[in-house]
Amino acid sequence: MKILLTGGAGFIGSHTCVELCEAGHEPVIVDNYINSCEEAVRRVEQIVGHPVPHYEADVRDAEAMHRIFSENEFDCVVHFAGLKAVGESVAQPLRYYRNNLDSTLTLCEVMQAHGVKRIVFSSSATVYGNQPVVPYREDMPSIGCTNPYGWTKFMIEKILEGQCNADPEWSVVLLRYFNPIGAHSSGLIGEDPAGIPNNLMPYIAKVAVGELEKLSVFGNDYPTPDGTGVRDYIHVTDLARGHVKACDFASGRTGCEIINLGTGHGYSVLDLVNTFQAVNGVKIPYVITSRRPGDIAENYADPSKAKELLGWTAEKTLEDMCRDTYRFQRQNPKGYHGA
Ligand code: NAD
Ligand code: WQD
Repeated sequence: MKILLTGGAGFIGSHTCVELCEAGHEPVIVDNYINSCEEAVRRVEQIVGHPVPHYEADVRDAEAMHRIFSENEFDCVVHFAGLKAVGESVAQPLRYYRNNLDSTLTLCEVMQAHGVKRIVFSSSATVYGNQPVVPYREDMPSIGCTNPYGWTKFMIEKILEGQCNADPEWSVVLLRYFNPIGAHSSGLIGEDPAGIPNNLMPYIAKVAVGELEKLSVFGNDYPTPDGTGVRDYIHVTDLARGHVKACDFASGRTGCEIINLGTGHGYSVLDLVNTFQAVNGVKIPYVITSRRPGDIAENYADPSKAKELLGWTAEKTLEDMCRDTYRFQRQNPKGYHGA
């Protein structure tokens, strides 16, 4: 299949691009590099051994998108493009709503105009809100999001659901990711956040290579086995494989499905720190600080729907995630910018 990846130069998009190529598909990337760079695409090309067509454009630019759709006959779209930093979305809500919603609306209008009606969307476990029970199941009603970023995901799910209801030829898969970490086993592509990372694993990785002094563990008084927050960390390559399955699934049906992509296992902050230290033989100095506002004690997925509908389960271990993250970070201590 010829598959458009919006935001395909980003962390999850670049790994998905590799897996799609390896499964015999023809991905095409569109990205404005607001949170990535062309070097990531060059690295993908190095891994797969052939050029990957890519366009530098903003998905909100209807003219550019029409041109891309005129030049390619797409079978499916995977829509990764979006801004994703929770804290930044609280400080800049309009920018987040404008970018994430406009890009989706423009994309869907252009798809409709060109008769492309299959889309896989990067949603997030954040749309569940802070549920009092685990695991999170797709049929749980959302209890509301806690930040503008989350609301953009919630609203985009509704936009795509609505489009499916309006045009029964559409096929929509809403993938709710849990906590993607890790990197490609080659060490060539990985997560490269700008500035000081907000998320746990990129922070640990920078402490490991001496770019940051120590990790702050946000609270050790949660009702969890060691008192620190528990999340469902998933290797980005497993997540990427889930997208290959989702594209296949979307092409054989119509309608809208919500599917969790997680492992079904929760690990604590200290599990991550300890595993990272053990598999990589490095010390991660840390201090316990107060809880981060908005955080919950634990969440993890019920991944059974993904297994049932997509025939997909996560295969990689927490050890793999820690080892692969460190390999990328060591090979690219300054991220792609040092390249
Ligand atoms: P990322 O920032 O690495 O990738 C997003 C890509 O979209 C970037 O390359 C960015 O340059 C591009 N982009 C943003 N706005 C654009 C626009 N208007 N036009 C063209 N390109 C644009 O993030 P990621 O971690 O790879 O996440 C991919 C998707 O998955 C995002 O939608 C994110 O919200 C979602 N998601 C991520 C996580 C996570 O923890 N990483 C979890 C759940 C959901
Ligand atoms: C994980 C755990 C922290 C940093 C976020 C988004 C979510 C989704 C995935 C996009 C928590 C603790 C963290 C640190 C720490 N993204 N922590 N010190 O908050 O589960 O999810 O990314 O959709 O929407 O909210 O991930 O990696 O920030 O935190 O102790 O320096 O690590 O308290 O328990 P989170 P995270």
